[in-house]
Formats: sequence, C-alpha cells, structure tokens
Amino acid sequence: MKSVITEDIAYCQELLRNNEIVAIPTETVYGLAGNIYEEEAIKKIFEMKGRPLFNPLIVHIHDISQMDTLVKEVPEAARALMNTFWPGPLTLILPKKEGVSDLITAGKSTVGIRMPKHRVTRALLQGLDFPLAAPSANPFTKISSTSSQHVASYFGSKIPAILEGGPCEVGLESTIVGFEAGIPTVYRKGGIAIAAIKECVGQVKLLTKEEKAPVAPGMLLKHYAPSTKLMISDTVAETIEEHAHLKIGVLSFFKTNYENCTVKVLSEQKSLDEAAQHLFSALHELDQMHLDVIIAERFPEEGLGISINDRLERAAH
Ligand code: TXA
Ligand code: MG
Repeated sequence: MKSVITEDIAYCQELLRNNEIVAIPTETVYGLAGNIYEEEAIKKIFEMKGRPLFNPLIVHIHDISQMDTLVKEVPEAARALMNTFWPGPLTLILPKKEGVSDLITAGKSTVGIRMPKHRVTRALLQGLDFPLAAPSANPFTKISSTSSQHVASYFGSKIPAILEGGPCEVGLESTIVGFEAGIPTVYRKGGIAIAAIKECVGQVKLLTKEEKAPVAPGMLLKHYAPSTKLMISDTVAETIEEHAHLKIGVLSFFKTNYENCTVKVLSEQKSLDEAAQHLFSALHELDQMHLDVIIAERFPEEGLGISINDRLERAAH
C-alpha cells in the first residue's frame, strides 16, 4: 500500500483527475487541492477542512493564459503585480467569469487567483488541464501546515495523498490584494511585504477591521490558533515572571536567554524572512508540548514582521 505522503506527481495528477483531493506543497503553506471544475471535488475540500461555505477558495494556476477563462478583466495595477510577483506568494482578487463556480467564490462576483512558485506544484499543475482550488491544509481556524507531516497529523487517513515538497520556504500564506475602483487594497497581510507591494504600484489601501468583514470573509479574528493559550507580549521577561507558576513556552524572534521556560527561536540571524518561515512549525511544536501558555514576542512592525504580528494576533484571539 502506498504511504499517504508521496513524491509521485503522476499518481497525484491521476487522483485529481478522478475528483479526489490531494495536499500540495506551495512556497507559502501546504494546500488541500481539487479540480475547480468538479463540484464533487470542491465539496470534498470544504468538508475535509470543516470550512463554512461562505468562505471562498483560491484558484491556483501555472500560466497567465489560464486567466482568460477565469476573469473578466485585469486592472492595470493587477497586471503590474502579476508581472512582479508571479509565480509567488501573491493572490489577486479579480472579477470572475461565469465558468468559475459559486461554490469556489462563495457566491461572490470575484475570484482569488494565485500562481505558486513551488517547483513540485508547478510540475503538478503543468500536467493538468484544469486549475486547482486550494485552501490552506489545516482544519478551520487551526495553524496552517508548512510540512507534509503537519498535513498528515491533521488529515492522516482521510486524505488519499500528500504530495511531498519539503518545508515551505516562505511559511506564511500569500498576501491577498483586491481592487476597489482600481485601487490595490490589501485584504490579507502575507508572504509579500506591504512595502514591496507599494513599491510596485504606488499607493495601497489597507482595510480596517470593519471594512474587512464583508470583502474578506476568511479574515476572521480567531485563526491560526494553537490549542494552547497564546499571548503576545512586548516585555516577555516580565510576562514570564508574572506567570512563573505555569509551564511556559516562548516564541522568540532571536533571543534565547529566557529562563524557566521552553524557548523556540525563529531566527538566530535576526531575519524576519527566516522567522516567517519557521513561525507555524514552531507553533505546531510548542502546541505538542502540553504547556499551560505560549508567550510570543511582538515582532518589529516592518517587512514580514507585520504579517507575523497579524498571525500572532489572530492566534491569540
Ligand atoms: O498562500 C496561500 O494563499 C495558501 C496556499 C495554499 O495557496 N492558500 C490559502 O487559502 O491561504 P485559504 O483558503 O486558507 O485562504 C484564502 C483566503 C481566505 O481568507 C478567503 O476568504 C480569501 O482568501 N478569498 C478567496 N477568494 C476571495 C474573494 N473572491 N474575495 C475575497 N477574499 C477571498
Ligand atoms: Mg487558511
């Protein structure tokens, strides 16, 4: 019998052609993928993830020409972003064509599209004559998966195959950008820093929490949550002292010298990109350790530190 974790791309393509769900590696996080044109496959994704139907899925492509059948028009700013960041950790929300099912878009008139960079998933997509819808490969509200083992621990025998692609290089979900009256608007902070998006298209709008609810249904406050209680602190040493009676785990950017606790350091080099890469796996590890509380350092509000803080805030909610 085949192990659920496999390197066999042709086997995964066959499963996908038969309306099965396959977990796929991307540079951001692993996804739970299915054929966008088969309702049976899409329904399986929502069921497996336990995801409410009002929360739309991202469509994954490998070639710009596939956009023709998916979207009505591409604003100028979207084209600039595609040219700069695809393939890569950027999702664009664009007006959809009829052929894209309401199940994928949760009845919205727009569809989210992304061209992933991961070598293995590009090869997978290139051999299929349909794009893949894929949400992150974690049960609804749980921590995303950045390795095949994370996916296996969540879905085990429920999923026919997990395509091995190694640990995810970026480690945070894609940055999501929509266009309101042609103005690029960030719906989700992610693997591409907001500063880089600004550099590409000039001004960028950030949504307030109130504005987010209707346009970005997936951006629920509680998300990426470990089972262990998580709190964010600006003064971790003090917070540790205040909780000295508890079993404490610390999620630290680069410092190792906290006392009386288990410390996970995200980047000894003090690199925000490296910290992002390690964030979810460190959270998975701490969550396995039967701790009473995880104390996370607040990250600097720059580059991917902004996206890391966003994930930590949701995990703490
Ligand atoms: O990096 C990623 O984006 C990963 C990998 C697997 O590609 N995928 C991912 O998917 O994070 P998911 O489903 O976990 O998050 C997709 C987010 C959700 O918050 C959803 O609400 C939003 O994208 N989204 C999708 N289509 C949308 C649309 N038409 N309008 C607004 N938001 C949309
Ligand atoms: Mg997700």
